[in-house]
Amino acid sequence: MKKMLLVTAAVAGLATALPAAAQFQKAEDAIHYRQSAFTLIANHFGRVAAMAQGKAPFDAKIAAENIAIVSTLSKLPLTAFGPGTDKGGSTKAKPEAWSDAAGFKAAADKYVAAVDKLDAAGKSGDFGQIKAAVGETGGACKGCHDKFKAK
Ligand code: HEC
Repeated sequence: MKKMLLVTAAVAGLATALPAAAQFQKAEDAIHYRQSAFTLIANHFGRVAAMAQGKAPFDAKIAAENIAIVSTLSKLPLTAFGPGTDKGGSTKAKPEAWSDAAGFKAAADKYVAAVDKLDAAGKSGDFGQIKAAVGETGGACKGCHDKFKAK
């Protein structure tokens, strides 16, 4: 029992240390990292969104699996917008993501809160809750993109 607690603590420690551990040698590495993380999030979010929109049959288990992945990955791209990563590689992030840091943080917080709700909805297995949370999360993605991502 004691051993199990230790293992759990170690895994929890790893999970919280992970974003901080994402450090980059070059701006280009950070840019590539956040684009890759967003690509993965969009893929798994898209599978749930298709169910919410009736484009794919609803399966609570598949939805929950994909939501769990979105939830795990959700904060990773946010760790890769550090100072100096506005250029140095092929990025679609607008300069406003840095010049309007408060606005960017507000958009990020909204998204984190929406993903938290999505996470809870995935665990509930309830289609109505998932659908509502997908709508809110999708809105948070778009809200940030409209302001801070070039088309
Ligand atoms: C806080 C702002 C913010 C939020 C929230 C956000 N994004 Fe983004 N996203 C960006 C920015 C900025 C870029 C451009 C990154 C770059 O090119 O350096 C981007 C890029 C992307 C890309 C393109 C990746 C590539 O290969 O170039 C995808 C796909 C994406 N986001 C999907 C999502 C999805 C899906 C969500 C919601 C679940 C989301 N984003 C939430 C800011 C955000």
